[in-house]
Amino acid sequence: MNIFDDLSGGKSVFKNKKYLDHRFLPDKLPHREKQIKSIAKYWKEALDGVTPPNITIYGKTGTGKTAVAKFVMKQLKEIAEPNVRVEYIRCTDYSTEYQVLARLCQLMGKDVPFRGWTKAEVINVFKDTLRRNVYDEKPILIVILDEIDILLRKDGDGLLYTLTRTDNISILSISNYVDFKRFIKPRVKSSLRDREIVFPPYGANQLVDILEERADMAFKKNVLEDDVIPLCAALAAKEEGDARYALDLLRTAGEIADERGSDIVKGEFVREAKEYIEHNKIVEIVSTLPAQQQRVLEAILYLTKRNEEITSGKLYETYKKLSRGKDIVSYRRIFDFINELELLGIISTNTVSRGRGRGRTNIIKLQCDVSLLEDALWVI
Ligand SMILES: Nc1ncnc2c1ncn2[C@@H]1O[C@H](COP(=O)(O)OP(=O)(O)OP(=O)(O)O)[C@@H](O)[C@H]1O
Ligand SMILES: [Mg+2]
Repeated sequence: MNIFDDLSGGKSVFKNKKYLDHRFLPDKLPHREKQIKSIAKYWKEALDGVTPPNITIYGKTGTGKTAVAKFVMKQLKEIAEPNVRVEYIRCTDYSTEYQVLARLCQLMGKDVPFRGWTKAEVINVFKDTLRRNVYDEKPILIVILDEIDILLRKDGDGLLYTLTRTDNISILSISNYVDFKRFIKPRVKSSLRDREIVFPPYGANQLVDILEERADMAFKKNVLEDDVIPLCAALAAKEEGDARYALDLLRTAGEIADERGSDIVKGEFVREAKEYIEHNKIVEIVSTLPAQQQRVLEAILYLTKRNEEITSGKLYETYKKLSRGKDIVSYRRIFDFINELELLGIISTNTVSRGRGRGRTNIIKLQCDVSLLEDALWVI
C-alpha cells in the first residue's frame, strides 16, 4: 500500500483541480472579447510584414491581463510562426534591462550569461542575434513585458529605450498602474507611441460567467450548492473585481468540502474559504517583514486592543517600550515603516486637524482583523 494511493483514493468533489489553478490558460475568456480583438487587430499587421504599434495594457490585479496576452500570443504563434516571433517575459523574473535582453537572446537560441557582461555587450549581442534570427526570415519580434512597473521602478527606462530604438520590434507592456509612465523619460515616451487598452474590474455577473466556465471543468457534476458561485463572485467583485481571488475562493471552498468529507460544496464553505485566504495572506505578509517592522506592528496591535487612538508619537513610545530598549530605530524611520505598512494595506492613516494653533496629527488605524494579526505575529 502506497501512501499516495490512499490519499488519491479518497472521494473528492473535484474532477480535475488544475482548471482552477492560476496558471491554467482557458480557451475561452468571457468578457474580454473586446480587449482580445483590439490586440489582435494591431498584431495582425505583423502577418503583412509590418511591425505592429506598441501596446500598453492597464488594469488592476486579476482582471485578465496576463491571460489575455498569453491567449492572443498563442493564437498568433499558431498561424504566424516562424515569420513572426512572440516572446513573453515576466519582469518579476527578469527585472533589469540586462536580464531581459539576456533572456531574449536565450529564447532565440543564443546563450548569454546572466551576469558578468557589460550592458553594452549584451545590447550588441542581442541586436546581432536578432539580425540573424529574426531578420533572416521575416523581420518582426513581438515582446510581451508583463508587470513592467517592477522593471521600470528597479532599473529605469533603459530597456524601453533599447527596444524602441531597435527596428522591427513591437512591445506589449502590461501594468497594474495607470501612472507607470512617470518612470519613463520624455524621449523614450515619444518613441514608444503606444496604444492603450484598459482592462476594467469584473462585475459580479461577469465573474459568475467566468467561474461557471471553470467550475464545469474542475468539479464533478452537481456538487456545487446553488449559491456557491454567486457568493464567490460577489465577494470577489467587492475585492476590486479580481478573477484570481474568485477562483481561489472556489477552489478553497472545494478543498474544505473534501477535508470535511462532504459530497457537496456548501455556501458556508465559501465564507470559510474567505477567512482562510485572508489569514494566509496576512501571515505571509507579516512573516516576511523585517523584525523592526514587526515590532511596530505589535505596538499598533497593542494600542488597538486597548482602544487607544494611535498617533505616531504614541506609537513610537509604545514601540520603544515593547523593544525594551534594544535595537531601537529613530523616530523618523517609524514614518517610513508606517508608509510601508499602509502600502501593504495592513493599516490606514488619516490626518486630522486638532483645532486652531494645535497643528495636525496623523491617526493610525489597523485595517485587518485584530485576531488575524495576532495569529500572524504569533506564528512568526
Ligand atoms: N475573462 C476570463 N475568463 C476566464 N478566466 C479568467 C478571465 N480573466 C481572468 N481569468 C483568470 O483569472 C486569473 C487571473 O487572471 P490574470 O492572471 O490574467 O490577471 P492579471 O490581470 O494578469 O492580474 P495581475 O495584475 O495580478 O497579474 C487567471 O487564472 C485567469 O485565467
Ligand atoms: Mg498578470
